Amino acid sequence: MLTIGSAVAAAVILLPSLAEFATAAVPTPSSPWLPAPSASGTVASSSSSSSQVKSQWEQVLGSNLYYYDVQRSGVLPEDFRVDWRNNSVLTDGESVGRNLSGGFFDAGNFVKAMPPLAWTITQIAYSALLWGQGFEDAGQAYYLDSTLRNGLDWIMSASSANETLDVFVGNQSVYWGGDVDIPQPRDVYTVTSQNPGTDVFAEAATALAAGALVYYGRALPTSQSANGTVPSSLRDREYADALSARAVELMNLAGNSTPQQVYQKAVPDVEWAYPSTDFNDELMLGSAFVAMASGDIEWVTKAIDAYSSAAPLYPPQYGILNWDGKGPLVAPTLARLALVMPGADSRLDFSKFQSDSEIYMDALESNKMQDTSRTKGGLAFFKGYSSSASLNPALNSAWLSLLYAPLASSDTKRDAYRSYAQSQIDYTFGKNPLNTVYQVGIHPNSPVNPHSALASGGTDATNINNSPPQELHVLYGAIVGGPDENDKYYDERDDYDQSEPALDTVAPMVGIASYFASQGSSAADPYYVGVTAPRIVSKRGGSGLSGGAIAGIVIGVLLGVGLLATLAFFIWRRRSGGGGRLTRRRKW
Ligand SMILES: *[C@@H]1O[C@H](CO)[C@@H](O)[C@H](O)[C@H]1NC(C)=O
Ligand SMILES: *[C@@H]1O[C@H](CO)[C@@H](O)[C@H](O)[C@H]1NC(C)=O
Ligand SMILES: *[C@@H]1O[C@H](CO)[C@@H](O)[C@H](O)[C@H]1NC(C)=O
Repeated sequence: MLTIGSAVAAAVILLPSLAEFATAAVPTPSSPWLPAPSASGTVASSSSSSSQVKSQWEQVLGSNLYYYDVQRSGVLPEDFRVDWRNNSVLTDGESVGRNLSGGFFDAGNFVKAMPPLAWTITQIAYSALLWGQGFEDAGQAYYLDSTLRNGLDWIMSASSANETLDVFVGNQSVYWGGDVDIPQPRDVYTVTSQNPGTDVFAEAATALAAGALVYYGRALPTSQSANGTVPSSLRDREYADALSARAVELMNLAGNSTPQQVYQKAVPDVEWAYPSTDFNDELMLGSAFVAMASGDIEWVTKAIDAYSSAAPLYPPQYGILNWDGKGPLVAPTLARLALVMPGADSRLDFSKFQSDSEIYMDALESNKMQDTSRTKGGLAFFKGYSSSASLNPALNSAWLSLLYAPLASSDTKRDAYRSYAQSQIDYTFGKNPLNTVYQVGIHPNSPVNPHSALASGGTDATNINNSPPQELHVLYGAIVGGPDENDKYYDERDDYDQSEPALDTVAPMVGIASYFASQGSSAADPYYVGVTAPRIVSKRGGSGLSGGAIAGIVIGVLLGVGLLATLAFFIWRRRSGGGGRLTRRRKW
């Protein structure tokens, strides 16, 4: 694989033969984009002179993309902007004869995991296909390109052997420390046509197909009467062709390898990290994206066949959107597919997928969805899921609402979906009982103890909270897991359910920020700009709570909320066999 610097050089050398495609080299910024200090988070936006993007939305988006640079593994490019990172784990993949040294570390520790990576790349690419102008205007096209390529290249390496996909690197170790001493060699887990992971084949295919659309420059319709824009500097037809061809191969593996099964059946040793529940959603989404990337209508038919045969589970009426659960994204994507490939299949009916989408969207925005509630402070709380990384399903639901809103069947619905999204985004940015801004480094009220071995500077696995007392590096752009169902947040490094950022906790904010950047000067500033009251850190045992919050909890307990939570916990334990979702990311 090429580093960014040599990719630019190669493109220049190859330019004459590729001239007709106007390939590709996003200009390297004359100086690297770096996050502003958190103190500037209380200063209202100016609009930059070259574009009308609100400078605070540029900060949110730019910092989110900076986080992905922090998470990079392998050989880092020359003049890498994160000056405290080093080359790392250069032997990854050697044991299976492939180069898996690149890519991204998943979260606070050092594993690499395909399911959340593929979802992250899909979500960022999908956002770029709708709101690419926002990346461009915020000066982030270069970092959009480098983030996507770093993920896509790794998926290409992991799928480079015939009928094979590497899905996990690393293990459940207790290593806590910097990037140069990570124990090696590391285990590689692989699915094949003989020992398949139906979901993960399709997830990888979806990411590659969405990436192909970005590099073809084929934006998606934002509404029935307008198209998105992909930054033209990303256009690279040769790369897009390679991504699209591999996506087709992987979807064929997903469709044809038997038995069709979730991937942890093939690689049970990784079940502790990311157990998957189902593969139908991945098959539908993968078919839809491969249809758009390849232009082959056979995939439209496959997507709709899968959708029809999954009734009555489709359209879903409740549930979450995340790396594992993609059900709520299927109908909104098929509605867009109907706009992109009209007539490809007689069942590809825009208004059917519009009304199917709205079954879920209406229940979500009106707070009438089964197994879903709001915390007292207003955070959407999904029973059985939100106990770990609560902001993740909430922000994904906000992203989904922004993505679907312009396709709504009425202006009233469109506005309701947007205001639901706004409520979750505002909560994340400080409109909550603790005045906490859950993006690290963006505001004085941001958390200071994200669970991150890289950022912490500590090496003592038995004392990660206090060694060192202050985290060594600010993990700019990271979205932490989030508060509990009582809106409490402890800001402790070892509380990974609350404090651990991951590739997939940041991805929805990339999309959200690109949406607001694409709105230019008409976007309101992020809520945090007006947050001046001090941040309240929850204390164990409840002593950090206000009298009002204590009263609320007492009343809540009287109403039986405690009992419900206990029940939900046991339901979860049954569903996941006790090992899974709540502990989806281990301490180290
Ligand atoms: C592996 O790929 C990376 C790019 O991801 C590259 O920098 C590195 O040199 C490659 N390593 C080997 C041994 O080829
Ligand atoms: C990068 O290497 C330097 C020099 O060895 C070291 O001091 C630093 O801690 C390393 N960074 C990380 C994140 O481990
Ligand atoms: C959107 O793009 C499609 C495909 O390129 C094109 O046919 C259509 O006219 C465009 N629509 C608008 C409103 O520009």
